[in-house]
Amino acid sequence: MNIGIIGAGAMAQTLAYHINRAGHDVMLSNSRGPESLVSIGQALKCRTGTVLQAAQFGDIVALAIPLWAFSAIDPAPFENKIVLDLLNYFPHRDGKIEILDRGETTTSEMVAKHFVGAKLIKAFNAITVDDLYRDPRPRGHQIRRALPIAGDDKTAKEQASLFINDVGFDVVDVGPLADGWKIERFRPAYCVAMDKETLFRTLADTSRGTRVPDGYWLKHRPITLV
Ligand SMILES: NC(=O)c1ccc[n+]([C@@H]2O[C@H](COP(=O)([O-])OP(=O)(O)OC[C@H]3O[C@@H](n4cnc5c(N)ncnc54)[C@H](OP(=O)(O)O)[C@@H]3O)[C@@H](O)[C@H]2O)c1
Repeated sequence: MNIGIIGAGAMAQTLAYHINRAGHDVMLSNSRGPESLVSIGQALKCRTGTVLQAAQFGDIVALAIPLWAFSAIDPAPFENKIVLDLLNYFPHRDGKIEILDRGETTTSEMVAKHFVGAKLIKAFNAITVDDLYRDPRPRGHQIRRALPIAGDDKTAKEQASLFINDVGFDVVDVGPLADGWKIERFRPAYCVAMDKETLFRTLADTSRGTRVPDGYWLKHRPITLV
């Protein structure tokens, strides 16, 4: 499978490393163009291209850019594609977004509104880049970490789940994009390493009033991966 990645920073490079290991082909891109990505492409042994080339290349396309940046991207080449949305909201980086602060929408619903016609799946949001590097385990491994996903398209969710399994994680379906708040910052499932059963239970116990302090994941790690 071909995976295009919009972004070439920490998350994009870490994901590219595991995608390569899983036997898929990957292309990274950024706003400055492939000439700025030569050494990264060589180090990761992956393709590099423009945002348009990465979008066209991917059977699945991952958005791995800051939240503030998505609205400047032309949505046309993403139409009908499975698009993984990694974006999280950090007011100090992205600016204050009142509708998110008031809980009237979720980051992924905002992104989906922009990428009209794309099959958007919220994925890889609830894992830190360090964990994304070290936690993948092959299918059938004794203990595996599970990652939550949300999305409105059932078939796209199934395909995204297969891909995430290839990368090295079990998957738990949170529900539609509108339920994406359950895995955003300050929720118990955000960035905490759990197996499938624990994540499933944690999500079932998460209501609008369930909040945890920032950095909760640093002190809570229900699974130990071997
Ligand atoms: N780091 C984590 O632990 C973590 C975990 C889960 C989710 N996330 C989320 O994942 C996203 C990426 O995080 P990151 O840590 O990888 O960020 P990062 O290291 O700052 O990388 C961001 C990348 O986006 C590129 N970019 C910015 N604007 C762009 C545009 N208009 N078109 C194409 N590329 C653009 C940047 O390259 P240029 O500036 O050269 O274009 C850079 O390569 C963020 O939304 C973050 O909140 C991060």
